[in-house]
Amino acid sequence: MGSNNKKKVVLITGCSSGIGLSLAVRLASDPEKNYKVYATMRNLEKKQRLLESVKGLHKETLDILQMDVTDPLSIQRARDRVQEGQVDILVCNAGVGLMGPLEVQGPEEMRRVMEVNLFGTLQTLQAFLPDMKSRREGHVLVTGSNGGLHGLPFNEVYCASKFAVEGACESLAILLQQFNIHVSLIECGPVNTDFLINLQKTEPGDSSLDALDPLTLCLYQRFLMHCGMAFQNAAQDTEDIVKVFLDAIRSPEPAFRYYTNGTAPPLVKLKNTKVDGLEYIREMGKHTFLQAQEENHDHI
Ligand SMILES: NC(=O)c1ccc[n+]([C@@H]2O[C@H](COP(=O)([O-])OP(=O)(O)OC[C@H]3O[C@@H](n4cnc5c(N)ncnc54)[C@H](OP(=O)(O)O)[C@@H]3O)[C@@H](O)[C@H]2O)c1
Repeated sequence: MGSNNKKKVVLITGCSSGIGLSLAVRLASDPEKNYKVYATMRNLEKKQRLLESVKGLHKETLDILQMDVTDPLSIQRARDRVQEGQVDILVCNAGVGLMGPLEVQGPEEMRRVMEVNLFGTLQTLQAFLPDMKSRREGHVLVTGSNGGLHGLPFNEVYCASKFAVEGACESLAILLQQFNIHVSLIECGPVNTDFLINLQKTEPGDSSLDALDPLTLCLYQRFLMHCGMAFQNAAQDTEDIVKVFLDAIRSPEPAFRYYTNGTAPPLVKLKNTKVDGLEYIREMGKHTFLQAQEENHDHI
């Protein structure tokens, strides 16, 4: 876009709730009116929450478009409805979770996570990168996760999808620097959103667990306790995440990774210092299973 007096055009995926919604509201309500936001969501019937959050401010700075990241036609239609004909800042945020013992996950559920988190992100990038490349300008931001940086038990498929996104983004960033296009991953720990509600989670009483061995079942219960405590003690609000997005968006030289809290960097360091990988695996096992046991006076 280049000129300072023009609004930056931002397109965000997954704006029906959570991080995407908060970011869309913040950018559309920018006091300087620096941004024109295209807030996209797969189901427009959910747009009321966003409209209520912007409180009538939306006329000049916000448009809501239908976009399902798993449907290339829907992505193209959304792209073609951007009035300015270009997107300066693309935020790939849409994502879904899946939690439970791997043995009980059905093929459909596993595929859905990969379809949304990995292929959805890749297909969105495919649609918007050619224009950014031809203009030699752009910023791609991706909502990353600590689960994309280090493994988490009972999150195998989610972590696989988010690790894959990390690999795709790092690979692209090497190329895109030649086009003056920045790529930034906003690495989030637990955040208070609808993610846990929308998450496909195997519940403790679920009949799919009947055939599971008792040790895995016991460890899963401990993990759920650990996870509940982690969310209770450490979950950030979306406003905290939005601040990190804003730092990245406003930076003239954006970093490749931003961490929304301090938990991931030491774990990543632990993982990378000992290249055989065992130290992280042992530590995470103790942290997840023993801590939950101690705090609940539970015994296998
Ligand atoms: N919350 C956390 O603890 C946490 C931690 C680390 C990373 N993250 C990441 O943050 C991102 C946003 O999640 P959130 O926490 O804000 O959860 P959220 O409130 O559940 O928001 C997820 C958004 O993704 C959308 N979405 C799902 N499938 C889609 C599809 N096929 N096409 C377009 N949109 C789709 C959802 O739309 P519907 O309403 O239609 O389902 C929703 O708008 C995700 O990438 C997630 O992995 C979250």
